[in-house]
Amino acid sequence: FRIPDPRNEPVLSYAPGTPERAALKARLAELSSREIEIPLVIGGREVRTGRIAEVRVPHRHGQRLARFHQAGPAEVQAAIEAALEARKTWSAMPPHDRAAVLLKAADLLAGPWRQTLNAATMLGQSKTPYQAEIDSACEIIDFWRWNPHFMERMHHDQPVSPPGQWNRTEYRALEGFVFAVTPFNFTSIAANLPTAPALMGNTVVWKPASSAIYSAWHVMKVLEAAGLPPGVINFVPGPGRAVGDPALGSADLAGLHFTGSTGVFQQMWRTIGENLPRYHGYPRIVGETGGKDFVFVHPSADVDASATALVRGAFEYQGQKCSAASRAYVPESLWPQLRERLLGMVAEIKMGEVEDFTTFMGAVIDRGAFDSIRKHIGVARASSQAKILAGGGCDDSKGFFVEPTVIETVNPHFKLMEEEIFGPVLTVYVYADIRLDEALELCSTTSPYGLTGAIFARDRDAVADLTRRLADTAGNFYVNDKPTGAVVGQQPFGGARASGTNDKAGSIANLYRWVSIRSIKETF
Ligand code: ALA
Repeated sequence: FRIPDPRNEPVLSYAPGTPERAALKARLAELSSREIEIPLVIGGREVRTGRIAEVRVPHRHGQRLARFHQAGPAEVQAAIEAALEARKTWSAMPPHDRAAVLLKAADLLAGPWRQTLNAATMLGQSKTPYQAEIDSACEIIDFWRWNPHFMERMHHDQPVSPPGQWNRTEYRALEGFVFAVTPFNFTSIAANLPTAPALMGNTVVWKPASSAIYSAWHVMKVLEAAGLPPGVINFVPGPGRAVGDPALGSADLAGLHFTGSTGVFQQMWRTIGENLPRYHGYPRIVGETGGKDFVFVHPSADVDASATALVRGAFEYQGQKCSAASRAYVPESLWPQLRERLLGMVAEIKMGEVEDFTTFMGAVIDRGAFDSIRKHIGVARASSQAKILAGGGCDDSKGFFVEPTVIETVNPHFKLMEEEIFGPVLTVYVYADIRLDEALELCSTTSPYGLTGAIFARDRDAVADLTRRLADTAGNFYVNDKPTGAVVGQQPFGGARASGTNDKAGSIANLYRWVSIRSIKETF
């Protein structure tokens, strides 16, 4: 039998009068009206530790959404034991039966669960309806339909057998458990990081980001509703070190599936290095981390298309995508026109509560993010090398709101051209057209990252030349489009350099990291 051919889930419009808009509004009202308590889930059982933390609505921080129990070393140990126990049956289960759980979860999400998870992502992470739809509905559904298809393709990859032999390749689960650590900014990444290894027969200890517990908890509920057996994915929210240290220190650690900051990933990699003598094997380390993603505008570019990409790339989801456009290189010859177009569009941006369907930007995730972004804007305000052309205002009186901010700098090495800000701040460097080569070199070398990037050019030779010369700068490279919004099955996602191990989420390459291959030769 075969896995059904995957196709990408269509994005619903939420236009006035549509059933999806009515359903989403109803779910928002329902979820908003009651606070919930979120337990850990270990071996299929809910566990309450009494070490409580809370979740607030970022754009209305007076409202508490949930209180959640936090794990410590004892619960992490219990989660590891539950994972190892569940592994005995889960890893031996036929791959198509494991796939069925994800395929069913995808169908539940495409149907009855869709607006619940969208509403949870909107309230918990301040995403607009459109941003929630592409993330917590379509992208998760796509991960859960495409990964089974990739797994099947992998299983079909078998060696040749000369007469008298039968050679087989067996794609086994890793020996031990996988530790999945997920970020706040995409519910889809939170859903993919534990489920991709699980699909391949592994069992998982999952630490979701505290600031996105609310949607993560709903993801867990969808998986349970789809029939995920107890112990396959164990839900253990809690402080980074309290959960991370015992997980990384376990002799049974078989892999780390991480998305988050570069600093935390590097620290975890070091910890794994230090613990190496105690492991049974070499843990697989897969990480997607920071970015300082660029838009390079060539003198032959379409100005309107470039301006639209800059606005969408830099300000959708408040610039909190690892793929967000945060630095732009623009030629002097186009800048007056592009600047006018860009600032005109930024002036039209509506920021506010995401339950209003006309809002384009909600709040940033929490106080820590708000303070850090404000500090970065302050650096530009205080510098003679930079000018704030739009925005710059920050207001935390009701929610953590940061205006869409455009900064122009005369220094291509200005701090804001090099450091990841993770907020709605776009810094522009205007280059002299005759110094295009130099500007290209700057684009490639001023940042340690290599996640996403975009070029805008109409001249075909320029497209080819820029694509070649910026080869190492971005794992996801866009020609005449914004650098965000990769779609599963269309643009496998991930970057190299300081941005991660480039193991392409939503691709067969990622799934290969979660298997330990056995070659079997049988002689007749
Ligand atoms: N996959 C996300 C994007 O491409 C991060 O924007």
